[in-house]
Amino acid sequence: VEWSAAERKIVADVWGKMSIDEIGPQALARLLIVYPWTQRYFGSFGNLSSAGSVLGNPKVSEHGKTVLGALEKAVKNLDDIKGLYSKLSKLHCDKLNVDPDNFRLLADCLSIVIATKFGSAFNPEVQATWQKFLCVVVAALSSRYF
Ligand code: HEM
Repeated sequence: VEWSAAERKIVADVWGKMSIDEIGPQALARLLIVYPWTQRYFGSFGNLSSAGSVLGNPKVSEHGKTVLGALEKAVKNLDDIKGLYSKLSKLHCDKLNVDPDNFRLLADCLSIVIATKFGSAFNPEVQATWQKFLCVVVAALSSRYF
């Protein structure tokens, strides 16, 4: 994957403007609420029975921050996201048995949360670059499945 200087700047800018502690929990909670079948992987997280319980669940918040912590590494390693996520891909495939379609669903939830938060700053150019970044992340996380 090639990244232009403008794209690198946009990815860094978007990242610089968001808080892991705020966006991570919101994006994961949105995934679990909008696509409830994704709850099957989080049996150890306790009560996920309603939108309120998902939003108030401390394990969901904690894990949302973990996921965004992993994304931060990708933001800082744009040139080798596939290598960076090799082990993480294998973990989700072999150990966690997560259907890789779910990566895209989480990426979309994340984009919605960011778009809502950024408003007009999330313009078409920013959106296109951000989606490219997430596309590469999703492909890298799926890479050891096949
Ligand atoms: C665990 C990242 C998407 C299910 C993890 C961990 C990381 C991570 C860093 C911790 C790994 C460790 O303990 O060594 C990501 C990233 C994702 C993503 C970057 C996409 C952007 C998903 C999706 C699902 C999922 C879509 C399921 C719908 C899980 C589960 C665990 C896990 C069940 C173990 C949780 C626990 O019991 O603590 N993920 N993940 N992940 N992930 Fe993902």
